[in-house]
Amino acid sequence: MKKVLLISGSLRAESYNTSLLRAFETKLTDDAQVAWADINLPLFNEELEADFPAAAETLRQQILNSDVIIIATPEYNRGTTGALKNAIDWASRPYGQNAWQGKRVLVVSASYSSLGGAMAAYQVKQSLLHLDAVVLGQPEFMVGDVSNKFDETNRLVDEKTKEHISLAIQKLLTEQS
Ligand code: FNR
Repeated sequence: MKKVLLISGSLRAESYNTSLLRAFETKLTDDAQVAWADINLPLFNEELEADFPAAAETLRQQILNSDVIIIATPEYNRGTTGALKNAIDWASRPYGQNAWQGKRVLVVSASYSSLGGAMAAYQVKQSLLHLDAVVLGQPEFMVGDVSNKFDETNRLVDEKTKEHISLAIQKLLTEQS
């Protein structure tokens, strides 16, 4: 059974990106062992590395122990969130112990805009490629117009997005890059 780590780039309780990952989790439960990451970490500072923060080490270990990772990013000012970039940076350290190396990662995004947070998703992919993660180029998975795809309790109700999730999971869990 594959071990899947879910990372939401939003710290908001009512986050659409976290809700999107919950929709992935619902479809994953029979085929995978799912864990959630907490990216509410101290701001990265090289001076903190000598006494590596426990929460950042937990994230590193979760990444190292996973077979595949699904990251959902909001788009803030045409980039990813500070919280997610910070988490990517922490898990790339200490120098020479980059936890992302060789990890199979699907990057998804969700936003109100019809562009679906595409620029944030590509910014995340750019950093992960640099870190030698195996980033899925396809399927591209950007969910726009979120207010019409989630209900008032933040549950995904859009059938096409649900179908897209099933296809993405199939590719993520069964195919090689
Ligand atoms: C945004 N939002 C936004 N949306 C977008 O599509 N492109 C953008 O560049 C931005 N920029 C932006 C900056 C800041 C500071 C905020 C707070 C918001 C809107 C954003 O997509 C929306 O708030 C989402 O709901 C955030 O994702 P979560 O928290 O719902 O997952």
